[in-house]
Amino acid sequence: MINTETPKDARAWSGRFAEPVSEIVKRYTGSVTFDFRLWPQDVRGSLAHARMLHRQNIISRQDLADIERGMKQIVAEIESGTFTWQLDAEDVHLNIERRLTGLIGDAGKRLHTGRSRNDQVATDIRLWLRDAIDDIDTLIVALQHALTDLAEQHAATPMPGFTHLQVAQPVTFGHHLMAYFEMLKRDRSRLADVRRRTNLLPLGAAALAGTTFPIDRLSVAHELGFDGVCENSLDAVSDRDFAIEFTAAAAILMMHISRFAEELILWMNPRIAFIDLPDRFCTGSSIMPQKKNPDIPELARGKSGRVFGHLMALLTLMKGQALAYNKDNQEDKEPLFDTVTTLTDTLRIFADLVSGIHVRSDNMAAALDQGYATATDLADYLVKKGLPFRDAHEVVASAIRQCEENRLGLADLPLAELRKFSALIEDDVFSVLTIDGSLSARNHIGGTAPDQVRAAILRSRQQA
Ligand code: ARG
Repeated sequence: MINTETPKDARAWSGRFAEPVSEIVKRYTGSVTFDFRLWPQDVRGSLAHARMLHRQNIISRQDLADIERGMKQIVAEIESGTFTWQLDAEDVHLNIERRLTGLIGDAGKRLHTGRSRNDQVATDIRLWLRDAIDDIDTLIVALQHALTDLAEQHAATPMPGFTHLQVAQPVTFGHHLMAYFEMLKRDRSRLADVRRRTNLLPLGAAALAGTTFPIDRLSVAHELGFDGVCENSLDAVSDRDFAIEFTAAAAILMMHISRFAEELILWMNPRIAFIDLPDRFCTGSSIMPQKKNPDIPELARGKSGRVFGHLMALLTLMKGQALAYNKDNQEDKEPLFDTVTTLTDTLRIFADLVSGIHVRSDNMAAALDQGYATATDLADYLVKKGLPFRDAHEVVASAIRQCEENRLGLADLPLAELRKFSALIEDDVFSVLTIDGSLSARNHIGGTAPDQVRAAILRSRQQA
């Protein structure tokens, strides 16, 4: 709960102001309604800063002990829900500092020595994002596991592979699923990259130029688990490129999820019916009793839009900002928080959903029978017998035209009929025209042969 009243002991920076801010300005400029969730990072950062101040003889042992005791109580209050967040204190940082001073007196006021909210907030958000990236990585791995488990069961299950959403060539369902594994693998590596650039300490930059106190930034970085420090104070407090990069990686991940979602929706369509989803992921219609709607994939597809929007918001927020800190940056939080929530919810629900997919392999096989999916195999067969590929393509096209007129599959034509298109065709052609023959012939790394799919699954398990 947030208290919106104005207490008597005004704001941390109000000394030079002749009149208090109006209610609407308070609401407009305040961020505690959303940045209160940074409190664990804010407390951690403050404690590391206070310990360093004491090590450097900037504050006394007693001050540090008081700060540690006060912070302990604040954490207990927040965790038990008795802490009153005050809009009047603007943001998470000033709320905690005000309470600390209320609890321990002057030592609380000394905590801010050699520091500014500018480097404090940049530190909090980097700490928060670093941990969020670690959580997201764990969730991606869980989704990858669900995909590989299902792919393993269907390493040899034929389905039509599509180009232009038309039946193209046979693939296995396992191979299709492993395509998403690969996309997620790149998403993980993008996020790991972002993490490296996020995990640097801004603290010590103070407002913008550094501080006159003899601080030790490296020791603070070490205590907070950062890999190093931001090397330029102006850059440290002003740039949010790490948040933009993160949101870009998140947008790409959501784009991948939206492709998978779209396929699930298509596969769920009763005309296609390649899969069924458990009822717990679908809803009915209030008016059409026959319907079972794939709401979860549809929502995931839709939610990709909001993450793309957050990326645009952050880019626009940063664009054209003169150095160093500007209040614009306070607007970085909501898009970032919502991106993380959207991503973690979506990944969690998709891992569960994938493990619940019921595969209707009979329908996949029936769809394969209809689209001349082994036409390329016949062309390849003729090439292996010496015909140039372009001529082979023509031969097969004529054969298909005739099959279509007679509503037949290629393998339904008797040998004598097939030989009318090319004398190179012999009775070994029929093994080439079968789905299994077509699948197992694509037997190289990255191909759809069931043995290759199993090998890919094995490799993925070794990597993860
Ligand atoms: N709430 C602010 C933010 O999120 C903290 C930094 C404020 N600094 C300042 N000079 N007004 O960016």
